Amino acid sequence: MAHRFDALGADALVLFNRFYQPDVDLAKMEVTPNLTLSVPADMRLALHWIGILYGKIRANLAATSGIYQAYDVIKMVMAGADVTMLCSALMRYGITHIQKIEMETAAWLEEHGCSSLSEIKGRMSQKNCPDPSAFERSQYVRGLSSYTSLFPMRR
Ligand SMILES: Cc1cc2nc3c(=O)[nH]c(=O)nc-3n(C[C@H](O)[C@H](O)[C@H](O)COP(=O)(O)O)c2cc1C
Repeated sequence: MAHRFDALGADALVLFNRFYQPDVDLAKMEVTPNLTLSVPADMRLALHWIGILYGKIRANLAATSGIYQAYDVIKMVMAGADVTMLCSALMRYGITHIQKIEMETAAWLEEHGCSSLSEIKGRMSQKNCPDPSAFERSQYVRGLSSYTSLFPMRR
């Protein structure tokens, strides 16, 4: 689909808008329009697909969902994002949180001898990372074999 949007001339793709998610209240027997904010783990889906798409389409890639801190911004850019967007983090910590993220991102770049974000963009994309198969579904098998249950079965 990303390739089709690209071919049709989309300037950028947003990966991924988190849709409105109502709940069902069993006591009141009604659909409740409660506000849910993202959690940091929500960024994995976008990280995965931005990493796969980077360098394979012409459109810019915008990352959204679960971005809370400078490390998240850096990871998304490393996967190949041109821009990162925040909503839940700002609702939780206020607008000044952007300054904290900006300062911490700049500090990380300096610590790692990088002069700009464009220097690290796409470095950990499927195209450029040391193990491109890490983006593939077959990694489920590896994940399962190394998985340790938090609740081991009693014998
Ligand atoms: C209060 C609130 C209102 C939102 N309104 C819209 C909206 O009108 N249209 C839309 O496409 N996304 C809307 N979103 C989704 C955000 O654009 C974004 O995709 C989502 O919050 C994930 O990013 P985040 O993890 O930084 O919050 C809304 C999110 C929140 C929390």
